[in-house]
Amino acid sequence: MIRWRHIYGTALRSYQSICESNVKQLSSCTMGDKFKLPSRYGAGEKSVWVEYIQLAMDYKPAVNLGQGFPDYPPPEHVTKSLAEIAVGDNCLLNQYTRGFGHPRLVQNLSKVYSPLINRQLDPLNEILVTSGAYEALFSSILGHVDVGDEVIVIEPFFDCYDFMIKSAGGVPKFIALKPKCLEGVQTSSNWVLDENELKSLFTNKTKMLILNTPHNPLGKVFTAQELQTIADLCIKHDVLCLSDEVYEWMVYEPNKHIRIATLPGMWDRTITVGSAGKTFSVTGWKIGWAYAPADLMRNLQVVHQNCVYTCCTPVQEAVARAFEYELGRRDSPDCFFVSLARELTAKRDYLSKMLQENGFNPTVPEGGYFIVADWTKLKDKIDLSSEPDQYRDYKFTKKFAKETGVLTIPPSAFYSQPHKHLGEDFARFCFIKKDENLALCEKLLKEWNAKKK
Ligand SMILES: Cc1ncc(COP(=O)(O)O)c(C=O)c1O
Repeated sequence: MIRWRHIYGTALRSYQSICESNVKQLSSCTMGDKFKLPSRYGAGEKSVWVEYIQLAMDYKPAVNLGQGFPDYPPPEHVTKSLAEIAVGDNCLLNQYTRGFGHPRLVQNLSKVYSPLINRQLDPLNEILVTSGAYEALFSSILGHVDVGDEVIVIEPFFDCYDFMIKSAGGVPKFIALKPKCLEGVQTSSNWVLDENELKSLFTNKTKMLILNTPHNPLGKVFTAQELQTIADLCIKHDVLCLSDEVYEWMVYEPNKHIRIATLPGMWDRTITVGSAGKTFSVTGWKIGWAYAPADLMRNLQVVHQNCVYTCCTPVQEAVARAFEYELGRRDSPDCFFVSLARELTAKRDYLSKMLQENGFNPTVPEGGYFIVADWTKLKDKIDLSSEPDQYRDYKFTKKFAKETGVLTIPPSAFYSQPHKHLGEDFARFCFIKKDENLALCEKLLKEWNAKKK
């Protein structure tokens, strides 16, 4: 018995050591190359969101003006309807719904957008409901961009565009918005495209141009003339326009949001993207959509049905009911589509003023809920030498958060590698925050400035 135990024990140990050496061999070869990130994702650059959310958890800033979401409740009717749906009589609202969009939601999206684009949107064939605007962008890009296709991207840009283009095998071609002048108080209309530079980017390989209006992070609302220039080039070179309009309801007087799909000749070549998260201040709900002619939409549907397939039913139902509620008071000043911008105008003005008074030079946005502010006048007040980051705006935003308790985002994250220097003098502040938190920000900035005198 003892002998058998001994033989069995020896055999087991040698089996274990063979296994371990096999695992070692395997891991040394897989770690090297087999399991590495596919090259279509480039070097797998760090995500600013992952890094700065971690920073917020580590440093617990007193005021987080980094990521773009409200720190106060969404409209009551919106959250109430989700609660009612979850426990309501219709238990089927907790099961799968139509893959390309819950019927009640696509019907309502058609009712909202048809009058805005001056054509009757077919709810079943011209609208796709997606997992946030993010997935609408992904399905649009993966559904159209082929290996070697070029995509024109306007910088600064929402950082996922670049990854999505590369993961489709496409080649991003960047053009930066640049300020016309750098002195004094500016608005986002000061940031413009050089028309000749834009023209020079169109080649016979150009498949798509990505537009973002109102713009993140600058808050620029593209004018009719600027959109016409883009439209003329898209038509001339037979190029698709992917128009990211998630901030469509956050446009400040006297600016007007123009949907590029409404320009002559553009409907046939435009995919427009929207977000329930931005529309109803529920960014965690992650429901978005795209609308476009049926032949373009079919390409998005193929990507969607093979990756997400169908989005969360109760949340889609709640977004549908939220639209119905707002459509019922469309002409009232209480309609959230107009009251949100009104409420945000005061916050924008308050944050712009406090930034100016505390040594920043803010670009006052015409839309969206971010302010990009030049911090270079503060450079003698802050020692960045202890921050190991490569880019000055990363150094500044980290050191500034540690010294003041106010967290912001470094805009160089919104530029391609060769153009990152264009964002280095700035920090991005989000102003869809409680008034008391904006007031706390003001107090912290004043105290910090006083200490540095
Ligand atoms: C320009 C832009 N596009 C798309 C998105 C993604 O929207 P969603 O949260 O609906 O996926 C965001 C979110 O911040 C954004 O700023």
